[in-house]
Amino acid sequence: MSAYSQDAGTDTSWPIEATRRMNRMYRRQRHIYDGTRRYYLLGRDQLISRLRPDAGASVLEIGCGTGRNLVLAAQLYPDARFFGIDVSTEMLTSAISAISRRGLADRVRVAHADGTAFDPQNLFGMPSFDRVFISYSLSMIPDWRRVLEAAASRLKPGGRLHIVDFGRQERLPGIARALLLRWLAMFDVTPRDDLERVLSAMARSRNANLRFERPFRGYAQYAVLTFPSEPRIP
Ligand SMILES: C[S@@+](CC[C@H](N)C(=O)[O-])C[C@H]1O[C@@H](n2cnc3c(N)ncnc32)[C@H](O)[C@@H]1O
Repeated sequence: MSAYSQDAGTDTSWPIEATRRMNRMYRRQRHIYDGTRRYYLLGRDQLISRLRPDAGASVLEIGCGTGRNLVLAAQLYPDARFFGIDVSTEMLTSAISAISRRGLADRVRVAHADGTAFDPQNLFGMPSFDRVFISYSLSMIPDWRRVLEAAASRLKPGGRLHIVDFGRQERLPGIARALLLRWLAMFDVTPRDDLERVLSAMARSRNANLRFERPFRGYAQYAVLTFPSEPRIP
């Protein structure tokens, strides 16, 4: 399990700014993260229950945080292998101890990388995955469209990309919506209002199938992009 994949001093591709920003955010928060986020990062367990990887399959989480999702998924799917990347070395420290505590280090590996540009061959010795999932991370990554492109390019033919994140809150009462958005902004969180449009365009250009839902009265958005088993012949 490698938390630090590159050397900050010598490699210019090291994501210094994003690492600093997220470490500042999570240095203390990580200790109360799992206990507090269970009440408002809704839909994560539903995402995990829908992953359903085959035996021997590989699953990657981009922005794995404390490793909470990876641990639960590895327990639910004991025949699959799990990988996670995160830009925060603070969060990865929590993830590594959670994975070790549950005795899952042989099936769950995490590494330090930026979701907008990562090389899984370098990090984990594998070029692509059967499933990639992104849970409440796109709303914290300024260049989130690049993360989607990177995720799609790391899926095997027939693979699936699962996403859950904050929605538009359009069916919440106005005052509740305004307060929630203000509170999220304090944590550098911006709901991606055009996620469905961006994913629809990706689905069209890659001949993929998109399923999009807005559960919990629009509090969350949930998407599954299923890629064709055979690449399209132009
Ligand atoms: C709200 S947390 C979600 C953690 C976890 N996925 C969950 O559902 O509990 C967002 C995570 O995204 C990570 N993150 C932010 N920017 C990132 C980037 N550019 N690349 C990879 N991870 C990033 C943060 O460090 C943090 O761990």
